[in-house]
Amino acid sequence: MREIRNVTIVGAGTMGHSLAQVFAQAGYSVWLNNIREGILTKARELIASNLQTLAETGSLEGSQQAPALNRIQTTTKMEEAVRDTDFVIEAIIEDQAAKKELFQNLDAICPPDAILASNTSHMDIFKFVETRRPDKVLITHWFAPPHIVPLVEIVRGPRTSQQSVDRVKTLLIQVGKKPIVISRFLPGFIANRLQSALTHEVLHLLDNGYATPEEIDLATKAGFGLRMPILGLVKRMDYTGLDLVQKVISNAAYQVPPQRTQSKTVDQLVAQRKLGVKTGGGYYEYGGRSTEEIMKERDIKLIKLREFLKEMGEL
Ligand SMILES: NC(=O)c1ccc[n+]([C@@H]2O[C@H](COP(=O)([O-])OP(=O)(O)OC[C@H]3O[C@@H](n4cnc5c(N)ncnc54)[C@H](O)[C@@H]3O)[C@@H](O)[C@H]2O)c1
Repeated sequence: MREIRNVTIVGAGTMGHSLAQVFAQAGYSVWLNNIREGILTKARELIASNLQTLAETGSLEGSQQAPALNRIQTTTKMEEAVRDTDFVIEAIIEDQAAKKELFQNLDAICPPDAILASNTSHMDIFKFVETRRPDKVLITHWFAPPHIVPLVEIVRGPRTSQQSVDRVKTLLIQVGKKPIVISRFLPGFIANRLQSALTHEVLHLLDNGYATPEEIDLATKAGFGLRMPILGLVKRMDYTGLDLVQKVISNAAYQVPPQRTQSKTVDQLVAQRKLGVKTGGGYYEYGGRSTEEIMKERDIKLIKLREFLKEMGEL
């Protein structure tokens, strides 16, 4: 089986354009496919801007920007994008029928050795995707923005081969990512389960007026969040002392918030079309600045933090 050299990304939206960038930056030849030409044009602009931000923060040599961009070819024709592919990641809309049809098409036209991955956020694709290569189908779950966040969760299906998992894991390490392998499908995988548990508590505190958004974010950033990048959540328990952890978990007075399917404060904000950064306001106000400007400021801070954590040997 040949080495993975050619990568195809299907879907060039929020995740797809950045996924193409990850592989192009690492020297791979990439085809980026989307059903709409306009999205591909926008994707190239976004990638060029992302590369510029990386160069400005010193995390990419300026001379590497153009070669990285040139390694990405775009097309609306799927056949062209997969003709010589070794590895495909689909990042199309989160819709079961669309993904099922896409995998069927990919299976029919991709070279037989190519591995097919889905970037689904929450779907058990192994229950509905039908291909003649179930040993080469898996999930790679990335985090936005993929060209900055190192984690990728690889999720095996019941028939995914160890060889496919190993090939993808090796590839992801080669492109500078931090893959973890989840042995079978679990809703939310790992990172989103942890984030969801926290979101439930945050909405409980907000909806019941226990604290303001500013207080909750200060408690996170100035409190337990500060040690998270160094210790994670499990090692933190060792530092606390497991005898104390034992006492804390036995405290019946603390109860996790009840499972919810909606939130009063989220509903109020959505009803006012306050959807967050993209509309200039959500729990916070961002008025007067473009989404691009706000996102770029966040990206610069994330890149600097990531590089610092790498320097300290934490990533
Ligand atoms: N946005 C995130 O933070 C995030 C994080 C992790 C995983 N995901 C998952 O990644 C996938 C993509 O999410 P996104 O946020 O990038 O969506 P998006 O809507 O920004 O982009 C999807 C793109 O796919 C295109 N598309 C739709 N059907 C297609 C097809 N058959 N062939 C080619 N292109 C097609 C659309 O035109 C669109 O441009 C989803 O499965 C989502 O659940 C998203």
